[in-house]
Amino acid sequence: MRKNIVAGNWKMNTTLQDGQALISEIVNMVQDEATNSSVEVVVCPPFPFLSAIGKQLPQGGRFHLGAQNCHQKESGAYTGEVSAKMLQSVGVEYVILGHSERRQYFHEDDELLSQKLKAALAAGLKPIFCVGESLETREADETFNFISKQLKDGLFHLSNEEFDQVVIAYEPIWAIGTGKTATSQQAQEVHAFIREQIARAYDAEAALNTSILYGGSANAQNARELFSQLDVDGGLIGGASLKSRDFTEIIKSF
Ligand code: G3H
Repeated sequence: MRKNIVAGNWKMNTTLQDGQALISEIVNMVQDEATNSSVEVVVCPPFPFLSAIGKQLPQGGRFHLGAQNCHQKESGAYTGEVSAKMLQSVGVEYVILGHSERRQYFHEDDELLSQKLKAALAAGLKPIFCVGESLETREADETFNFISKQLKDGLFHLSNEEFDQVVIAYEPIWAIGTGKTATSQQAQEVHAFIREQIARAYDAEAALNTSILYGGSANAQNARELFSQLDVDGGLIGGASLKSRDFTEIIKSF
């Protein structure tokens, strides 16, 4: 059966020292307080802090290390880039791919994302693949067509075995960092649609077993309502993952 996951995407925030203080608070709070231990917690700090933050995570339990991106090639003359294999070698288990900020600011398209997915899977990483529409697309009533195309072109080329490793995050662009969360009904509607698309592309079992996370101004106040939806299996949290109390409350919302 699919897992419930709360993933914190720190984006380009914190210093090493602030990040270490933050993760130490989160680990203590999550361990000390009554949290549902079946919820996986994935922490995605910036590249330079991965190793250090990974060492602070209790091993073999619910905490997992994630990266925010990876390059599509295994190695070579690509100055400034980081490969999936490198990430795996420092203890990373998950990698966020297709985040709307990467699509928008770094022009990552479906073709490139397909290559990145393959590279991540080949290195043994679990991709958290993001999809989501802009406000313009939503207002034009094109949300379902848009998401369906992102899934088909970016993700559904994977084999069944590869797809088994994937987590999907639905992140409406208009809700990211804006304080404007999708209502739980809006989230549920798109999550159910995504699950239906998975069943068509693969099979009913794959659809049932895929964790689909919601992202976009999720916080300690709205997480419980969002997570109570049938097809919402957790969250990809930006801003609120940088505050230990808020992030812990979100984990406790299951
Ligand atoms: O990856 C996380 C998402 O972009 C959500 O960010 O919680 O700051 O809106 P946010």
